[in-house]
Amino acid sequence: MKVEGVPLEILRTRLSEKWSGSAPDVLTLPVAEMDFELPQEIRDLLGAMVQNSDTGYLGKIDHLGRNFAAFASDRWNWKVDTEQFLLCSDVGMGMIEMSRTIVQPGDKVLVNSPVYLNMFNWAKELKCEVVDAPMRKDGMRYSLDLAAIEAGYKAGVKIHFLCNPQNPTGTVHTRAELEAIADLAEQYGVYVLSDEIHGPIVFAEEPFIPFLSISDNARNVGVCVTAASKAWNLAGLKCAFIITQSERMSELAKMMPRSVRFRASLFGAHAAAKAFECGEWLDGMMETLDRNRKFLQVQLEEKLPLAKYQIPSCTYLAWIDISAYNLGETPTVKLLEDGKVALTPGHLFGPECTQFVRLNFATSEEIIAEGIDRMVAAINK
Ligand SMILES: Cc1ncc(COP(=O)(O)O)c(C=O)c1O
Repeated sequence: MKVEGVPLEILRTRLSEKWSGSAPDVLTLPVAEMDFELPQEIRDLLGAMVQNSDTGYLGKIDHLGRNFAAFASDRWNWKVDTEQFLLCSDVGMGMIEMSRTIVQPGDKVLVNSPVYLNMFNWAKELKCEVVDAPMRKDGMRYSLDLAAIEAGYKAGVKIHFLCNPQNPTGTVHTRAELEAIADLAEQYGVYVLSDEIHGPIVFAEEPFIPFLSISDNARNVGVCVTAASKAWNLAGLKCAFIITQSERMSELAKMMPRSVRFRASLFGAHAAAKAFECGEWLDGMMETLDRNRKFLQVQLEEKLPLAKYQIPSCTYLAWIDISAYNLGETPTVKLLEDGKVALTPGHLFGPECTQFVRLNFATSEEIIAEGIDRMVAAINK
């Protein structure tokens, strides 16, 4: 199935954050939303619900857990227990509510920067201290630094917010790394909250490994928080899942307020259930992203040869080092002012990232090329 970028003039009529959040003359490439059309089955389902004025509260939806379990089994050979599958409104809320069953204000939470910026905000919301075990960097290749993680665990960290796979570096963690984390967490009494929202968006060369599929230790210390919202672009519909796979973690999950479940939306839950049946659309979308990640590399080599970019192994976010162009303390400010192109500033993802930008390539080749042209225009101004 072919999944192609929607033309710019139509995108500009969208009401979502990506397309309504900046001036009309700005080309907008931050915010992790996709510029594709939804699978027809999801559009039909939502359209029919609206036509039927079926806009009330979320009721029973057993097939959502079953559909996710079937998808996880087919794609990742991970056997999910649908009895330990809880709903919540979004991944952020799932991470926070689950954390609240574990930490008190002042406790320590570990992250691996550069990492999804809201992991810092979640820790702040929990009034917890962030301990950073930065990713190890070899050129533009990143990997988890197990020694730094162990040092953090030893220093009394209660929770590890693991971004599996990783935004913004596009790293897919290996089985050996995840096994080591599970063993260390068991040894030091740390809980691992694995944010797997990008799990379905992993390219073929490095398979995605769900944390709970790793080992008994992983299941004893870990929780998976995930959603269909990133891979099928359903973020506005509000539905995510908190998954455990051991008695110990299930008991902890039961300590969350019952209201957590009811904060998922009717549309979100039904669209997510349908999404996990839309594997063909996902495969088509991945083919487009695969072309785009390579197209971006060619564009950068031709037009911005000093930019450093490693083709990502997952998701649709390019992590680009533009330090060689000396665009000041916050390069995205100059790029926006002088090039009318909006990108996510690197410093939001961690210290020492001020000269990086994150570019969303879940769009058309025309928009990617135009984005790079605008960066060039800003640099030359
Ligand atoms: C790693 C990661 N987690 C969570 C989210 C946001 O998920 P939600 O809107 O369900 O909170 C994103 C969005 O880009 C993300 O990249």
